[in-house]
Amino acid sequence: MSVLDIDGHRIGVLFPAEDIAARVNAIARDIAARQPVNLVVVPILKGSFVFAADLIRAMHHAGLSPEVDFMILSSYRKSTKSSGQVTVLRDIETDVRGRDVLLIDDILESGRTLAFAKDLISARGSRTTLTAVLLDKPGHLAANIVADFQGFVCPDKFVVGYGMDMAHQFRELPFVGHVIPEQPASAKTRAEQET
Ligand code: IMP
Ligand code: MG
Repeated sequence: MSVLDIDGHRIGVLFPAEDIAARVNAIARDIAARQPVNLVVVPILKGSFVFAADLIRAMHHAGLSPEVDFMILSSYRKSTKSSGQVTVLRDIETDVRGRDVLLIDDILESGRTLAFAKDLISARGSRTTLTAVLLDKPGHLAANIVADFQGFVCPDKFVVGYGMDMAHQFRELPFVGHVIPEQPASAKTRAEQET
């Protein structure tokens, strides 16, 4: 795994840009194969904005012409652990009644964010509510949800890049990486000797 030094942090590359692009194209083709009707794509911001931007363009190449509207949900409170509480910071303006909706999120971890959004959209009378996530981080599921489309299974690490942040940093990275925690000086010496 390649490790980059960015802004004083060591970031290990988990999913390089080329691998992400290939998965995004494959997901777009899978979505098109479901032949959605009158499709509205709803990226759940902020973390999904890069994934969504690439996915809707890949969807165009797969023959789809979706509308796009945005929802900002908050379930994270500064720390790297979910608070469990989901709040709508910005709602969509689109009437979804009778329409196929595709929710896009960056990561499915506890599933609370996506389950909340899916319930909300379904309760408003969408015909179907599909979900696409870039990463599925298993082992923490606390809601009854499985993404219809997913990019990669994510190791149990806090990841950044490709839209995802750690305390507002690293959204701009073109790959998905994880921040390697600082090791205490003694452990560092041992680790360095091993390599
Ligand atoms: P869930 O509600 O627990 O499924 O959390 C999903 C949301 O938590 C995602 O949309 C992300 O914004 C955020 N999240 C979960 N894990 C990570 C991570 O490793 N890095 C950055 N954000 C994360
Ligand atoms: Mg998010």
